[in-house]
Amino acid sequence: MLMNKAIVLVALITAACSAQAHEKGDFIVRAGLANVSPDASSSALVLDGAAIGGSEADVDDNTQLGLTFTYMLSDNWALDVLASTPFKHDISADTGALGLGTIDAGETTHLPPTVSLLYFPADSSSSFQPYLGLGLNYTIFFDEDVDAQLEGVLGRGKLDLENSLGVALQAGFDYNLSDQLLLNAGVFWIDIDTDADFKFANNRIKTDVEIDPLVYMVTLGWRF
Ligand code: NI
Repeated sequence: MLMNKAIVLVALITAACSAQAHEKGDFIVRAGLANVSPDASSSALVLDGAAIGGSEADVDDNTQLGLTFTYMLSDNWALDVLASTPFKHDISADTGALGLGTIDAGETTHLPPTVSLLYFPADSSSSFQPYLGLGLNYTIFFDEDVDAQLEGVLGRGKLDLENSLGVALQAGFDYNLSDQLLLNAGVFWIDIDTDADFKFANNRIKTDVEIDPLVYMVTLGWRF
């Protein structure tokens, strides 16, 4: 019922304001929810130089405030910057042949700033503006911590994750509700790869982790 009312409301707003669409020189700011959903895989954990059979690291998902800034270079091409509040992820490890099962290994915070070129194929007068984008991501990891569960096995430790530079693909749409206001939904695929390095007093664990997340965004946008 609420959904029906919302749809009617959107239709009324759309009818009331002949929606002006994406044109050269427009600047669009969008704010909303961004969910980073890793499709993580890793090399086997290497403990003091020896690979542990059947072991693997994994990374869970997280939702934060996402912001995008888009500048229309022409009616069809735009420059886009993705920003967000820091994402926080738990890192778990399947210990494989070590026989400890799956344990909490650590946690990290990261920021994934991404710059993309967007292509809007629709006519600039259309209210519905789908787009495709290709860009570059730089993911900065910080506040890495070894989880208490792993420290219970190996003693106090320190975790370092290497920053990642990679390609970002995106697809989504803007739906213009009025001259100023728009709805947006989009998804990014970002190639984020890192080396995880756990250091303990007497041991060291290393693994290469492919995080390669999908980032889902639902935002409200404002055109200037
Ligand atoms: Ni990758």
